[in-house]
Amino acid sequence: MITCIAEVSSLRSALRKLPRPLALVPTMGALHEGHLQLMRTAREKVGPEGTVAASIFVNPIQFDRAEDLESYPQPLAEDLELCEKEGVNLAFTPEVGDLYAPDRSVLVTESLLARNLCGATRPGHFDGVLTVVLKLFNIFQPDVAVFGKKDFQQLALIRRMVRDLDVPVEIHGHPTVRETDGLAMSSRNRKLTSDHRADAPRIRRALIAARDLAATGEQSPTVYLDAARHHLCKEAPSGFHIDYLELVDHMTLQPLSKVTSPATLATACFYGEIRLIDHVTIRP
Ligand code: PAF
Repeated sequence: MITCIAEVSSLRSALRKLPRPLALVPTMGALHEGHLQLMRTAREKVGPEGTVAASIFVNPIQFDRAEDLESYPQPLAEDLELCEKEGVNLAFTPEVGDLYAPDRSVLVTESLLARNLCGATRPGHFDGVLTVVLKLFNIFQPDVAVFGKKDFQQLALIRRMVRDLDVPVEIHGHPTVRETDGLAMSSRNRKLTSDHRADAPRIRRALIAARDLAATGEQSPTVYLDAARHHLCKEAPSGFHIDYLELVDHMTLQPLSKVTSPATLATACFYGEIRLIDHVTIRP
């Protein structure tokens, strides 16, 4: 049975009555199959008697563009129905004022893994993500929290925060879930025009074409990046542009001078105002 709770104080009293272990699935709503798989994994982690909780909160402080925040889809009634179908025990749907004091003045900042990729092109984004995730961890005190691997930089930062701040929670990363044409599932996909949606699998195709070069023993980052850029831009529709395309070390997320250990080739691309991300791992 699902309980929809907005205020932190009522959430806390509800949590005291729910059985442990507890798995938390933090989301911004507009749920899709990818989120539902996170919920199923959360259930596997805690078993039939444990508690699966989901938060649905479009966190304003992680948005770097006002128009992205304003147009972010928020189909709350549908989301709650999906949570119920997935056997979520508790859905937390706070308002901004429930989580943030008007004079809030503390942020969680990571200063190394956040330097490149989305951290470089979305200033302040990861401060907002880490701050809200730490708040959710403090409120729920989950035994395990489940996140998608699609946001691999976000996942790396959350793991680093948990390690460096001694947060007692197990972080589980769930593989990227894809549409049948290869496009990584994202709440933003539903905002694409039909032409852009039809074109969007090019992102995955471009990354795979570049990754295939690993079979030839290629070690030059430039060669991988040029190949991916070529496939991303070749006959791309109007409105398409690359936000970033980077090849970084798989663990440190820093740029590489030579690909001799596992590396992540990652991109963010815009279709009009809609920004999509994806990545592949290159194993030399
Ligand atoms: O990945 C997301 O949906 C968000 O960044 C998260 C982790 C729920 C924090 O708002």
